[in-house]
Amino acid sequence: MEPLGSRTAPVPTDGRVLTVRGLSKTYSGRTGRKVANDSIDLDVSAGEIVALLGPNGAGKTTFLRQVAGQLLPTAGSIEVAGVDMVRSPRRAKEFLSVIPQECEPRSDLTTEEHLRYFARLKGETRGSIAATVERLLTETGLAEHRGKLVRELSGGLRRRVLLAVALSGPSTRLLLLDEPTTGVDPEGRRSVWRLIDALRARRIGILLTTHYIEEAEYLADRVAIINGGRLVAGGTVEEIRATLPFRGRLEIRGLDHLTPSARVLVGELESKYRVSVRLGNAERLEIVDPFRPEVVQELAHLTTEGVRATLSPVSLEDAYLAMVGAEAGELP
Ligand SMILES: Nc1ncnc2c1ncn2[C@@H]1O[C@H](COP(=O)(O)OP(=O)(O)O)[C@@H](O)[C@H]1O
Ligand SMILES: [Mg+2]
Repeated sequence: MEPLGSRTAPVPTDGRVLTVRGLSKTYSGRTGRKVANDSIDLDVSAGEIVALLGPNGAGKTTFLRQVAGQLLPTAGSIEVAGVDMVRSPRRAKEFLSVIPQECEPRSDLTTEEHLRYFARLKGETRGSIAATVERLLTETGLAEHRGKLVRELSGGLRRRVLLAVALSGPSTRLLLLDEPTTGVDPEGRRSVWRLIDALRARRIGILLTTHYIEEAEYLADRVAIINGGRLVAGGTVEEIRATLPFRGRLEIRGLDHLTPSARVLVGELESKYRVSVRLGNAERLEIVDPFRPEVVQELAHLTTEGVRATLSPVSLEDAYLAMVGAEAGELP
């Protein structure tokens, strides 16, 4: 699909639409100082989706608000489409669209009227507005809801309206989404995911924050894990998984009720293959090389003893929990 751009953004020749270096933010309040972002480096290229994944309070919103030019950095630099956000915020902001956290449109307009209104606000010309709104309605799957009042749409559809509005800026090169599906039911969430995924065709860069591991897994070309204001890992899902010292995870149900012979088998497995047992959850073993024939064989013995055991390859969640800590990972 052809990008909507009418203005030409000075995108660097390497295709980067966001370059962040050493970004830090310290809040000072009555209760003291709080380091919310600590020396973060991050890039987003045109056509790429990057997820900033971390628990509540990790510093995701702070990061996004700095990139959006809503919050001045304590230190560091931000370039959007090659334009310095701190020195030339007005110009840099022309190239980005933002959907803040917990943003819900409650408009009394119909979907179509709402999109028309914002397209005008965002600089679409009188002559092109009808075609743009038509294209947005189709692209975001809202065409069949065009006549409905925005405030009466489901949560998932309202998020789609937000995305349509964000996309109506004709010069957008970078889209910032702060927790785009928090509070949306599972079905609505999937529909928002599919839409965000389809936006790759526009060749804009998307930076989203989330505390849902499966959201990062579904959408992101690259994931950056943030905890306590610091980036603790970055790369593709595959690369992050590979940082773990084990490749598989074995879950055994009902460890307390094993027969004596099953207990011996589990004990052998543990002593041979265990790297670590998750804190507070002794039913999970981490296995260095789970698909070796001897491991598979021993597991087969276990199942004949009536033990319910599941072996799975390590997931992004395993890596996330290892880096962020099991407690943080259990937050909603
Ligand atoms: N305006 C503020 N003043 C002081 N501290 C803040 C402010 N905004 C956020 N914080 C603190 O900074 C940290 C990061 O917050 P935030 O960026 O909202 O995290 P996240 O979006 O990952 O949940 C948290 O400890 C939060 O309490
Ligand atoms: Mg937040």
